Amino acid sequence: MEDFNGKVAFITGGGSGVALGQAKVFGKAGCRVVIADIRDDHLAHGLKELRAQGTECHGIRLDITDREAYARAADETERVFGPAQLLFNTAGVSLFGPLEKSSYDDYDWQMNVNFGGVVNGVQTFVPRMIAHGQGGHIVNTASLGAFLSSNFAGIYCASKFAVLGLSEALRQALEKYNIGVSVLCPANVKTNIAESIKTRPEKYSHSGYEYDEETIESLARIYSQGMEPVELAQHVLDAVKRNQLYIIPYPESRAPLQAHFEAVIAALPPEDSDPEGVAKRNAAMLRYRDEVAAQQRKRERS
Ligand SMILES: NC(=O)c1ccc[n+]([C@@H]2O[C@H](COP(=O)([O-])OP(=O)(O)OC[C@H]3O[C@@H](n4cnc5c(N)ncnc54)[C@H](O)[C@@H]3O)[C@@H](O)[C@H]2O)c1
Repeated sequence: MEDFNGKVAFITGGGSGVALGQAKVFGKAGCRVVIADIRDDHLAHGLKELRAQGTECHGIRLDITDREAYARAADETERVFGPAQLLFNTAGVSLFGPLEKSSYDDYDWQMNVNFGGVVNGVQTFVPRMIAHGQGGHIVNTASLGAFLSSNFAGIYCASKFAVLGLSEALRQALEKYNIGVSVLCPANVKTNIAESIKTRPEKYSHSGYEYDEETIESLARIYSQGMEPVELAQHVLDAVKRNQLYIIPYPESRAPLQAHFEAVIAALPPEDSDPEGVAKRNAAMLRYRDEVAAQQRKRERS
């Protein structure tokens, strides 16, 4: 997508941080912007900033884990601005602690928001984007943690691995509808994510971790040194223009990613170590693809 003028962008988490940066940059590029957020104070702050820069914007209070409310938010977007061509699945939360101490609530909250929220965005907007036939672009926010996992961030990383996997598959699925998909994998951004526990619903409050103001302050000190959200969003805008899949604008990520993928490749046997097995498995896969294609043609004929 090259021309953003008059396009409608729906941005989750848009009242703060990464998503507000996206709203500002895509708003400046000419988009009409809907920000959806679970926090009223964040929504009010985001709308104020967007209006101050002259962006046409609208705010919707939304918990992205609520599927019915998500559908209503999409209806509201269409009533206010018309169909959306851009979807930013950006809202996310983090809660860090020793993985072996995690409770089911720790899993459920982070998976439901970080992965479930993206699923709900996709399920709500993709059929509408296909139906309006104007093409578009989806940006899913994962994290560098979608490639590199660690003990304290284990659940968060698992949720982001899921976002990465879905985004790669979705890009293949939506190419024929002229809908691009990108996955944003930031390392450190200057946002309010240290305090995301404040948005955790009571039903997920049985945590296995110790979390207090001191924990939040330590985390906040890390994020205070992160990339400015507007700078990150400028990379996103450039990537959407180029229809680029991965957006990872952090030079310091090169060495750990290189080490990670070298370790993965090192786990493989030499290419010529099992020619018969390779031939058998490849043939089975090709046969399966042919069968699926034939079944699809049959269904389309009947
Ligand atoms: N800050 C970083 O260093 C960093 C690094 C990698 C990835 N990310 C990712 O960036 C995304 C945005 O986070 P951020 O850093 O801007 O944090 P943030 O807390 O500043 O912004 C997140 C926004 O999402 C909203 N939100 C939370 N739960 C929600 C829900 N259930 N429904 C709707 N809105 C909800 C919050 O109210 C908040 O306004 C997240 O997916 C996060 O995982 C952030």
